[in-house]
Amino acid sequence: MYPIQRPRRLRSSATMRALVRETHLAIDQFIYPVFVRSGKGRRDPIGSMPGIYQWSIDALVEHLVDVYGLGVRTFLLFGIPHQKDDVGSQAYDDHGIVQEALRAVRERLPESILIADLCLCEYTSHGHCGVLDPKGNVANDPTVAILARTAVAQARAGASIVAPSDMMDGRVGAIREALDANGFTEIPIMSYAAKYASGFYGPFREAAENTPSFGDRKTYQMDVTNRREAVKEVRLDLAEGADMIIVKPALPYLDVLREIREEVLVPIAAYQVSGEYAMIKAAGANGWIEERRVVEESLIAIRRAGADMIITYFAPQMARWLVERA
Ligand code: PBG
Repeated sequence: MYPIQRPRRLRSSATMRALVRETHLAIDQFIYPVFVRSGKGRRDPIGSMPGIYQWSIDALVEHLVDVYGLGVRTFLLFGIPHQKDDVGSQAYDDHGIVQEALRAVRERLPESILIADLCLCEYTSHGHCGVLDPKGNVANDPTVAILARTAVAQARAGASIVAPSDMMDGRVGAIREALDANGFTEIPIMSYAAKYASGFYGPFREAAENTPSFGDRKTYQMDVTNRREAVKEVRLDLAEGADMIIVKPALPYLDVLREIREEVLVPIAAYQVSGEYAMIKAAGANGWIEERRVVEESLIAIRRAGADMIITYFAPQMARWLVERA
């Protein structure tokens, strides 16, 4: 006969719990998303995302130098162009807002990892992630061509990684070909492979000013009811040459994250999106939850489910907490 098993023995002190801990948060694996707009000296608050701003390039550079100092080395850039048009031409213009920002940040932080979000929704006048056909539907193949052109412009401006978030079919292969043809064979593609048509992107629409003027994104983003389909999307993107993949949103999709973790060998990033951030912030500000505890718990949960990297607006805050604790 064995004695009764006592798992509690391994929970008896803080030191013992630390010894047997399975999951850790490391600053190296945080990716901090930022919004950049035109102008000078601007730091415009986003109402639904307390602590997050639209920055002009000069102010963004100073902010990222500070955040870099905390240990966060990887940034995901979103641009709000000064003008939008039918084809989103500011996305691929060599002087478009993201290209200018990439150059400016690269100059001050040469070793930083700069990920360029690759999508047209912030750049089109109608707010969809691609160009439209005469009936007003997103036209897949013409959009893919513009995305490939944008990827090259981003690489030329100093992006370390491009991250297509549009969910068009065949875009990863086309982007890979265009990058290679222009000498950017070493630039990895981090594809938003499993991106759901989610209500959790609500606050982002204010932050990035990309609300569609009609319709929604359900014809190109994934249906929230599907899990197997996420595995299929991931396989397709890997077959086309994706080097890393993103699952998005994060906390409500931990089952998807786990399933994909078991399926693939490439690094996986989970995106804790604007709505996840806003909910924690709002409840924390009201004293309904302990903000710090819930932030850490949610990030740990995302890592436990299988994410290697976490894209999160909490990156600077979490880095400060980790530094404090060390
Ligand atoms: C599209 C894009 C979106 C987000 C990241 N890239 C919005 C959308 O699909 O509507 C959302 C991120 C967030 O909510 O934090 N370029």
